Amino acid sequence: MSLPMVVRDPELPERVTIYEVGPRDGLQNESEVVPLPVKAELVNRLVAAGLPVVEATSFVHPRWVPQLADAAELVALLSDGEAMHHPVLVPNDRGLDRALEAGCTHVAIFASATETFAAKNLNSTVEEQMAMFAPVVARARGAGVDVRAYVSMCFGDPWEGAVDPDVVVRVGRDLLDLGASQLSLGDTIGVATTGQVSDLVARFDAAGVGVDRLAMHFHDTYGQALANTHAALRTGVTTFDASVGGLGGCPYAKSATGNLATEDLVWMLTGLGIEHGVDLDALVATSTWLAPLLGKSPASAVVRARAGELDLS
Ligand code: HMG
Ligand code: MG
Repeated sequence: MSLPMVVRDPELPERVTIYEVGPRDGLQNESEVVPLPVKAELVNRLVAAGLPVVEATSFVHPRWVPQLADAAELVALLSDGEAMHHPVLVPNDRGLDRALEAGCTHVAIFASATETFAAKNLNSTVEEQMAMFAPVVARARGAGVDVRAYVSMCFGDPWEGAVDPDVVVRVGRDLLDLGASQLSLGDTIGVATTGQVSDLVARFDAAGVGVDRLAMHFHDTYGQALANTHAALRTGVTTFDASVGGLGGCPYAKSATGNLATEDLVWMLTGLGIEHGVDLDALVATSTWLAPLLGKSPASAVVRARAGELDLS
């Protein structure tokens, strides 16, 4: 099928990078532990669909996220015998040790802009998290490993409500100063609105952090993730996190639902004539393959439209 029709908007970037987080953000939130071969096939299918970056798993404490306790085994399945280039989450030195032992070449740290989420997700304060990340970034870079940094709760927090955007900018700048190569700004519970998105990007710019250092990580709780993506595109951001079928959430963030679905993002970008390199049909096929294995229909409207309602019986 050749839809959607394409009308290019010259105000928007010509090309974007889609950073797929389904195997990590998606599967960390499933009630059942997904079998290892399914995880490996999911990553391989996403790569085959043309996704340039696929975040594979997390080296967090296995008691905190049992769904991803098999991180080392997964990396072994995905590695070429020496290295594994898909990014993985690491919260601390122990996580980095495990990732380096497994041969990972790209890691991501994840900070919180709010005290409550820092406590619930990392058992730390906003200040303590920086002390935890500093040696991780230094050691990773010393080993030639790239470090991405997330900031969670950038647009609203389920316990604290409104989040001060200047605090988000301060936390983000601190992470870049540690040596992170890119900041992914997380709307962890999916409450952001478009004006907040452009305002936050402008504040980062005023603080000396250009759009080339930023990525956006939208969850879709209030159905605003695509609108927020469009607002970010208008500011010139060119990296967007998304999750196949709209899987995702955070076990430590009350009310977090799935990420922006990769298929929905691909549909919009294609319609805008923005290059992304991803095969929509291969993605939809991946979501329809995965759905019965997870026992639920994909949240993505584009998957439902393209594949029809799935019979999960
Ligand atoms: P803690 O309990 O404070 O850890 O947890 P600790 O440093 O006190 O250590 C306690 C024990 O755990 C020690 O073992 C450590 O070795 C061990 P013992 O000496 O008692 O035998 N340990 C580990 N073992 C394996 N791997 C590790 C590790 N670290 C310590 N990495 C900790 C602190 C940070 C570890 C914990 O809070 C944790 O694992 N949190 C992760 C939570 C998580 O994964 N959340 C989801 C990802 S974030 C997200 O989804 C948001 C995002 O998508 C963006 C957005 O949407 O906004 C990224
Ligand atoms: Mg997330």
